[in-house]
Parts: sequence; C-alpha cells; structure tokens
Amino acid sequence: MAKPKVYSTHQLFEEARKILDSNCEMQYWTDSERPPRDEVLRRVKDKEGLVCLLTEKINEEFLRSAPKLRIASNVAVGYDNIDVDACTKRGVVATNTPGVLDETTADFAWTLLMAVARRVAEGEALARSGNWKGWNLDQLCGADVWGKTLGIVGFGRIGRSVARRASGFQMKVIYTDAVRVSEEVEKSLNAEFRDMNALLTEADFVSLHVPLLPETRGLFDAPKILRMKPTAFLINTSRGPVIDEAALVATLENKKIAGAALDVFENEPFIHPGLKRPNVVLTPHIASASIETRTKMAVIAANNIVALFEGQRPPNILNPNIFKK
Ligand code: DGY
Repeated sequence: MAKPKVYSTHQLFEEARKILDSNCEMQYWTDSERPPRDEVLRRVKDKEGLVCLLTEKINEEFLRSAPKLRIASNVAVGYDNIDVDACTKRGVVATNTPGVLDETTADFAWTLLMAVARRVAEGEALARSGNWKGWNLDQLCGADVWGKTLGIVGFGRIGRSVARRASGFQMKVIYTDAVRVSEEVEKSLNAEFRDMNALLTEADFVSLHVPLLPETRGLFDAPKILRMKPTAFLINTSRGPVIDEAALVATLENKKIAGAALDVFENEPFIHPGLKRPNVVLTPHIASASIETRTKMAVIAANNIVALFEGQRPPNILNPNIFKK
C-alpha cells in the first residue's frame, strides 16, 4: 500500500524523523530559516499530512491550498496558530503536544523571574564589557526573590509546575484562574486562590501561564498592569498577545512597575523597541527549548501523524468531534 504523503515544515529531530520516515512518504523543509508561506502552500497541495510549527498559520487560506490534508500536527502545546473550527469543517484533524513541556517551561519562567529580579543580564553585560571596576557595595542591587509573593495567572499544568518550585524560596504562592482548583491541589502546592485584582495588588512577581484565547488576548492591559505594585515584576512565558505591549512599555517608561521578563511577544519576531531597557529581560520564545523536551515534542507530533494513518484516533487530538460524525 502506498504510504501517505506528509510535509514537515521543519526537519525535526532524528528520533521523530525515524518514526515518520518508516511510515510516511516524507518531505521536509531543511533550511534553518522558517519557510516562506508560498513555499509551504505549494508543498502541501498533494499532502495528506502536515507537521507544522507555531509559526505556520493553519487557516482557511491554508486549508484551501491543501485539499487532500487529513491531519495538521502542531509541534507545540499552544495552538493559536491553528483555526481548529476551520479544520473540523473540512474534516482535518488537528493535534498538539501537551504534557511534555510543563517542567521545562516552568524552569524557564523561574530563570526569567530570577534574571530580572537579580539583574543577571545587566551584570553579564558588565562582566563581559571590560568596564567592570571591581566589587562595590551598591552595584547592580536587585530585588530579593526568597520570601516574596508569587502570583500565578493561569493555574493549569505549567502554572502549577511553577508553583511547585516556589517552596524552596520560602515564597507565598497565590494564583488566579477561571476555575478554582480543588482544596487538595491548593494544599499540595501551598497555593491560595485570589481574584485577578487581589492577585495583582498583592504579588511581587506576576507570572503568566494562560493560553491565547479571545478572552485572554490583551488581558494584561493598562488598568491591570497599573494595579501591580510599583516594586513588582511581570513575567511572561505564555503568549505575547496576552499583554498589551504598548501599555506595558508606557508602564515601564513611567516606572509604575519594577521590570518585566518576556519570552514571548505580541508580533514575533518583532520586539517593541520600548521593551529594550535594562529592567526588561528579553528571550526569543525559548521557554520549552531543552533538547530533551523539544525532541519529545517532535516525537509526539510524529506519533500523532502515524496514529491517524493507522486508522486510530491521534492521542492529542484537538477536534475529537471529527470522529463522532
Ligand atoms: C508551545 O508549545 O506552545 C510553546 O510556545 C513552544 O514550546
């Protein structure tokens, strides 16, 4: 039997390629730059499967160009790049890679939190510059992390993994979410529920862990950011558009919060020039980027493809209704 034709917009990792190569007729984009849109649209014309990254928009236009497509397998847990309803209408299965990146992303949220509080980027730049004149009592004094209050916005898997790490720092953990978790979970993580406004006025560090949805787009607007303490820091490893960047820049310019640490941006890869200031730590969307985790994500995406073509329901399906029809 002929193998299904699948296009991957990335060459992935060897472990994932092995799975795909032995089950599908594969074509990979191998350049280190992301592929241009028209190249992807051209490649998917005759493909039944697609492995894509969050930089590819899987929307009506895309689906029209891929009339034979049966599955779009996203190598990411967030899937705001995929119009799931449009996929469902056309009978295209959409999948993501949940579960494997929670701890790695939580590690990185802490990396950013500590980096901005303790002025690591500024210190590193000074150490490399040749201008360091030696130890000085008031040099690059940051803010303590230990003993402070951590406010977590979005208490799903990643938010909870962030909370779990706070006990070593003797921090108080408060969280907010549309749904309050059980008392048992709260107890095990030593976390207390707050409504958003209470969290913002109480937290020394506010860390965002919500998916990008219509309800969370621009969630951190001027009034919310201004509710934070002037000594507080905002950390974002979720999705850039959750923060109104112009509002954040204005808040930072007016010194209404102490700083921010951002791994994600409103219009990636563009970074608002107003964010490029000493009290803002910037990283290029790498919170899940450990070799172990990115390999696991690629393997999950490959397995989602193979499952579908073996006649099974892919384990990480986003539109299970397709199978109810
Ligand atoms: C995701 O998976 O959604 C991240 O943003 C990339 O790891």
